[in-house]
Amino acid sequence: MASTSDSVIASSGQLDELINMDRKEVSLRALSDKSLYELELEQLFGKAWNLLGHESEIPNAGDYVVRPIGEDQVIVARDRDDNIYVSLNVCEHRGMRVALAEQGNSLVHRCIYHGWAYKPNGDFIGAPVPRAKMHGDICEKAELGLKQAKVALYGGLIFATWDQDSPSLEEFLGDAKFYFDMLFNRTDKGLEVLGPPQRARVHTNWKAPAEQSAGDGFHTLTLHRSMLELGVLGDPDGDGSEATMEGINVCANGHALRCIPAEQSFAMVKDMDISKMGYEERLAILPPPGITPELLVELKKHMSEDQIRLLAEAPPQVGGMFPNIGFLFLYAPAPDGTMSSCLALHLFSPKGPEEIEFWTWLFAEKDAPAEMKEKMLRSSVNAVGTTGLYEQDDAETWPHMLKSSKGVHARRNVTMKYQALLGENKPEGWPGGGKVFAGLGKDDTQWEWWCEYHKWMTR
Ligand code: FES
Ligand code: FE
Repeated sequence: MASTSDSVIASSGQLDELINMDRKEVSLRALSDKSLYELELEQLFGKAWNLLGHESEIPNAGDYVVRPIGEDQVIVARDRDDNIYVSLNVCEHRGMRVALAEQGNSLVHRCIYHGWAYKPNGDFIGAPVPRAKMHGDICEKAELGLKQAKVALYGGLIFATWDQDSPSLEEFLGDAKFYFDMLFNRTDKGLEVLGPPQRARVHTNWKAPAEQSAGDGFHTLTLHRSMLELGVLGDPDGDGSEATMEGINVCANGHALRCIPAEQSFAMVKDMDISKMGYEERLAILPPPGITPELLVELKKHMSEDQIRLLAEAPPQVGGMFPNIGFLFLYAPAPDGTMSSCLALHLFSPKGPEEIEFWTWLFAEKDAPAEMKEKMLRSSVNAVGTTGLYEQDDAETWPHMLKSSKGVHARRNVTMKYQALLGENKPEGWPGGGKVFAGLGKDDTQWEWWCEYHKWMTR
């Protein structure tokens, strides 16, 4: 019988049929092909750094949450030593789930089946009836701990990988880290979650939202048209392309982000005429999303002058981390007409080739005042996730793309096209690394996402 690794080899050739590197096209079949999905579980989710949550979700010894890595389930737990461990949530005895609650606090995880018990770091404590040695004589206790993933924290975000030989998380982030530091690593105490993550099932393939998060500004003009018509985005007299598509798109290692000046996107900011101001003055008048004027002092401790200048002039506002994470660190107008912010992170967690669990974490700086956190929570719920205006639009397209890919004629003959390209054109004096595409955003960063995908899948 063919093993999974046999099908990996068989599918690598098939991948070149699906992704045409010369013509920059991807067969629609890639959105529902079952063997491709199996290969993704092995090659991507089995090897890349996977986002699991934020350390502020488990602040105390014994706190834990249960999270996915691909289709595996893991326990993310804080031990007495204050370290965070990621253990496969599968009992070493007969494969029962060990933690059945989605979150909780316990310094002992006891399997309900026969009672084998584990520490938060996954170590096997023992089985009931110790005198009878119910774990047997063949394995030492040290061999019976829960399987461990390699863990790394970045800006409080918890990542894990099954690949014990993987490059560090820092290497994985590569040149994108310069930009991500402006979002996740900028104040003394860092970010904290505003409540538990929102979760919803969506009938789609995970690559539809993941690829969209890799810098697709083009769709904003059409799919989010109502935001332009409502006057939330852009200049009511313009065609909307400047407000929604112009910016500086950056990508590195498949991570992608869009740096967008606030005055270009939001009608309410245009009146402030901040485009003529120096960056210090701009920061004081319109601090970056999630930052108060009081927190500006902290920014200066954690970031270089180049980063602060960029944050003031064209902050990274939307993007994704490879392979299946989206972020929005947006200016988000509040219902009362003032400017607020939304700091959100998404995970497009695969549940088979035709379904995802759509996770949304909302954040604020831990040091932000309580009333600001409250306002951000309200603005964020209005803007993103299952309740948000933007992503109700976005999520409208994902299931239709999946359904299209299931038609025999469509999956054989239709491709997703990434042929509108700006080409690299890093502006003079641009402070960050990565591939930079300035101007009217085209398909460049999304095509880079597929190139990275191809690389991981054929490794
Ligand atoms: Fe867990 Fe038996 S399966 S103790
Ligand atoms: Fe969108």
